[in-house]
Amino acid sequence: MKNFVFFQIPGTPTETNLFWYFIWASIAIFVVVVFFIAYYSIKYKAKSQDETPPQLHGNRKVEISLLFLSTVIVAIFFVLTVNAMNTIQDIPKHPNPDLRITGHQWWWEAHYPHSGVIASNEIHIPAGKKILLQVNSADVIHDWWVPKLGRKIDMFPGMDNYVWMYAPKPGTYLGTCSEFCGTQHAHMRIRVIAQNKKDFKKWQEHQLKPALPVSKNDSLVKEGKALFMSKTCVKCHQIRGTKATANIGPDLTHFASRIRILSDMKTNTKTHLRQWLKNPQKVKPGAHMPNFIFTNRELKALTSYIHHLK
Ligand code: CUA
Repeated sequence: MKNFVFFQIPGTPTETNLFWYFIWASIAIFVVVVFFIAYYSIKYKAKSQDETPPQLHGNRKVEISLLFLSTVIVAIFFVLTVNAMNTIQDIPKHPNPDLRITGHQWWWEAHYPHSGVIASNEIHIPAGKKILLQVNSADVIHDWWVPKLGRKIDMFPGMDNYVWMYAPKPGTYLGTCSEFCGTQHAHMRIRVIAQNKKDFKKWQEHQLKPALPVSKNDSLVKEGKALFMSKTCVKCHQIRGTKATANIGPDLTHFASRIRILSDMKTNTKTHLRQWLKNPQKVKPGAHMPNFIFTNRELKALTSYIHHLK
């Protein structure tokens, strides 16, 4: 069946359109009901204190008409809702997703299968293009929800769900995990950056590059790298172009290119990174990053190294 859309507000997602149908219909019904309440209150107002109004019992004609009318209204909305659901869920039989997002306690992992880009938390998409998004989870149930880009969708471990995502114009679109997934659920925020074609291509090209090499003269960064590679950091994180290849925690290859850290919780400054490395459990209690009890010198070196990963 071909899906139809009435009075589509240009650039609005189908579900927003449906929302407005409901709002306008509710307003219309409200106005009619209030009008009749006011009209009959005035028309049949008691003329004197001791007047008894005529005692009536029902009116079959009015009752049947109202029943019929409400059934028709509900039926229309049923059809509109089912139609909108079909439009939104119009997923191909053999989906070839543009973007694959995995929910983790408590961060987002993004893979771009067509280009091979791997990103974390800060998700870039091209504006003005419908993106087929594949979602799943690495642990518990999460829920992907960026209201301005489309409907929400649950993310299950061991099961792929699909949803269309569309950013009408370049800009930053914020969202949040909307399924309770543990202590840091409220800090599992989403930042999607929609870019024009050229900027998005540039971003992808940059993300595909291996990590920036460490210059021989930069002793602090060098020290930080040696520390990173010798500590447990390498058991969880990947920094492409180095021996850190694990994929338990976020990919850090271009960490310093991101605007915010910790699933959009804090701005990406050296101070915030240092606080996090010093005691992750204080910043984000329950997070899987343990406290390594680094010395101040180690913190300084590690922060310098990670912040050099542009
Ligand atoms: Cu992830 Cu709530």
